[in-house]
Amino acid sequence: MRTQVAIIGAGPSGLLLGQLLHQAGIAAVVIEQRSGDYVLGRIRAGVLEQGTVDLMDQLGLGERMHAEGLVHGGINLGFRNTRQRIDMHALTGGKQVMVYGQTEVTRDLMAARVACGAKTVYEARDVALHDFNGKNPRVTWNKDGAAHELHCDFIAGCDGYHGVSRASAPPALLKTYEKVYPFGWLGVLSETPPVAHELIYSNHERGFALCSMRSNTRSRYYVQCSLDDKVEYWSDTAFWDELRRRLDPEAADTLVTGPSIEKSIAPLRSFVAEPMRFGSLFLAGDAAHIVPPTGAKGLNLAASDVRYLASALMQFYGDKSAAGIDTYSERCLRRVWKAVRFSWWFTSLMHRFPDSGEFGQKLQEAEIGYLLESKAASTALAENYVGLPMEA
Ligand code: APR
Ligand code: PHB
Repeated sequence: MRTQVAIIGAGPSGLLLGQLLHQAGIAAVVIEQRSGDYVLGRIRAGVLEQGTVDLMDQLGLGERMHAEGLVHGGINLGFRNTRQRIDMHALTGGKQVMVYGQTEVTRDLMAARVACGAKTVYEARDVALHDFNGKNPRVTWNKDGAAHELHCDFIAGCDGYHGVSRASAPPALLKTYEKVYPFGWLGVLSETPPVAHELIYSNHERGFALCSMRSNTRSRYYVQCSLDDKVEYWSDTAFWDELRRRLDPEAADTLVTGPSIEKSIAPLRSFVAEPMRFGSLFLAGDAAHIVPPTGAKGLNLAASDVRYLASALMQFYGDKSAAGIDTYSERCLRRVWKAVRFSWWFTSLMHRFPDSGEFGQKLQEAEIGYLLESKAASTALAENYVGLPMEA
């Protein structure tokens, strides 16, 4: 079998790239180790920057997102038992975000891929990458007891943090940067109306809490938890009680609780791998970088990576120019590091750190106070939250 671009992974990065290439008339095959249902079962963040919304529109996939997604022009910061709105729309000259779950983005992309007849291999076992530094790049895998081989010009490693692509890069050429945070997020999804119209990010002495949503009838809530915590330790009642304690009194009174339909714990990490290109192998999305979820940048960074990659490949096939592929890594990384910085900063500002000490605690409180009083500081938060621009 032969194609132009072999895409490893059918998460948002791989599927977005697949549609962008299809639109440009470039052939691609997506190879995914899990089933489609498994991929759709993963619950992830759900805040899309304008650039990600534009990308879905450009692909002709915006219809359901615009009908069902919630447009938010602000976020609320909870602090000292009150809540203050950051008017992102006003502070950024009219920019907003779209609350639309990653699962729904993935579902729309999968449907589009089926509709255009593009090939996706699910449940591919033992996926391996070969000769991406040489003349005969190819991908092999096993499925249903048979061995398969795909020859290609390029390999897009869109297979997430645990994938095979980054692991296949020559160790001597790969440099990684990592920060692990000393806490996790315990998340609950419930069929209940959201406590507030817009998200609440709450800094509380018992730990951070976040009130988010998937729709007007489905809520997503998180509380900062210890790394030793287990989902089994948290009954629904214990979760709701803890969340309520970390919210301002009005939100605590308004909170509608109900049975959880999903409950999970996620560790928090910042991670960047450099470079993002090795010969004809390109890394994109979580395969190259991870951000903590505070600010919901993961999916949006994946979207900007694949936009750079698709335009680089279009330049290569259309204009016979390698300029785009030669600058892919540095262009991505400039934007990646800015989002890594923002996600780290927002995480540092909002969580209780076991080792920060009294001095660190006082500094955190002073910084939130300043943020809430200063238009300049709120603008910096707002412009990062709605998404920094992409390079032309
Ligand atoms: N072979 C084939 N597929 C693989 C392999 C492998 N060896 N390893 C992992 N995969 C698949 C995973 O099963 C998953 O479906 O690659 C996909 C990677 O998807 P994501 O982890 O969602 O990563 P990405 O597409 O880059 O999306 C980034 O999604 O994961 C969130 O927080 C992340 O919001 C961010 C965004
Ligand atoms: C979510 O809705 O799951 C979500 C929203 C915002 C975040 C993180 C997660 O910063």
